[in-house]
Amino acid sequence: MSIENTREQLISLINSALDIDGLEKIRVDIFGKNGELNKLKREIVNIPVEQKKQYGQKMNSIKTDVENSFESQKNAIEMKILNEKIAKEKIDVTLPGHYVRSGSMHPVTRVLYELCEVFKTYGFSVEDGPEIECEDYNFDKLNIPADHPARDMQDTFFMENGYVLRTHTSPVQVRTMLNSKPPIKIVSPGRVYRKDDIDATHTPIFHQIEGLYIAQGVTFADLKGILMRFLKDYYGENTQVRFQPSYFPFTEPSAEVYISCVACHGEGKSHCPVCKNTGFIEIMGCGMVHPQVLTNCGIDSENYSGFAFGMGIERIAMLKYKIKDIRYLYDNDMRFLKNFVR
Ligand code: DAH
Repeated sequence: MSIENTREQLISLINSALDIDGLEKIRVDIFGKNGELNKLKREIVNIPVEQKKQYGQKMNSIKTDVENSFESQKNAIEMKILNEKIAKEKIDVTLPGHYVRSGSMHPVTRVLYELCEVFKTYGFSVEDGPEIECEDYNFDKLNIPADHPARDMQDTFFMENGYVLRTHTSPVQVRTMLNSKPPIKIVSPGRVYRKDDIDATHTPIFHQIEGLYIAQGVTFADLKGILMRFLKDYYGENTQVRFQPSYFPFTEPSAEVYISCVACHGEGKSHCPVCKNTGFIEIMGCGMVHPQVLTNCGIDSENYSGFAFGMGIERIAMLKYKIKDIRYLYDNDMRFLKNFVR
């Protein structure tokens, strides 16, 4: 190759490279040990002395031009690769997205959490208890006598060796009192079991939340104060609350608590299916813990007193979401459950 047209030839060779591999091969051919530039260099021995200087200058200028061409071709190829990559990975953010269906909490679970949250703000902590419970804790320690109807085979799922599926969350009271010293301030939500036939208001498995507060000098006024605060916090400030004397073996005195009807707002309008025209609905049972129960659970009833309450979570959820039949809560029908996606 004569030095005259070397420059053009090498530059057009570089410009013919289409990719990095091709360019690398050309780099070796031009700049390598036996490459074109070194061949030109070695040629200098054949150049007459008086032309050597001129030859050398030309050679250097060719080398500079070829190096520059190589750099710009390399940049061009790299840019081309980058642009192709960007084009391939481009995301069109204006395209419609894929709909991802999110799960949601079951209404019973949601109400259960809500109730715990409200009671936590009053200083209650949350306690758990087993669903397979000994008869002693489920009945005897709670002062439920042997001839009480709940102890009938018809009402309770009895297991072997003195165990039952707990019929209420009240045995968690017993466990907490046996395991800790007053002051005690707990709520305990959970599943309970009863041998009920299934209908619009009964299922053999349902949920309750139990509350217990034991300290020195706790009175019925404290019970009323906490429960009225809770019912107004949960159902609204205008909710009217009514306490009506009742009977539970584990509390004395005992009461049933009613709130003004969530449907007709206490007007007792004719044909209100929720309150049966009475204007009020029963929401929970409560009372002062029976001194015998305190004694049974190792607490000095001369020194301490307390109150307890218990309510059904399904009932609360049904009133809150205007669900007419408890079976909706257990059918797992998506047409029902999807109403509770937030
Ligand atoms: N254990 C009762 C039930 O299952 C509910 C209950 C009533 C709990 C009064 C209490 C209470 O703690 O004081 O029907």
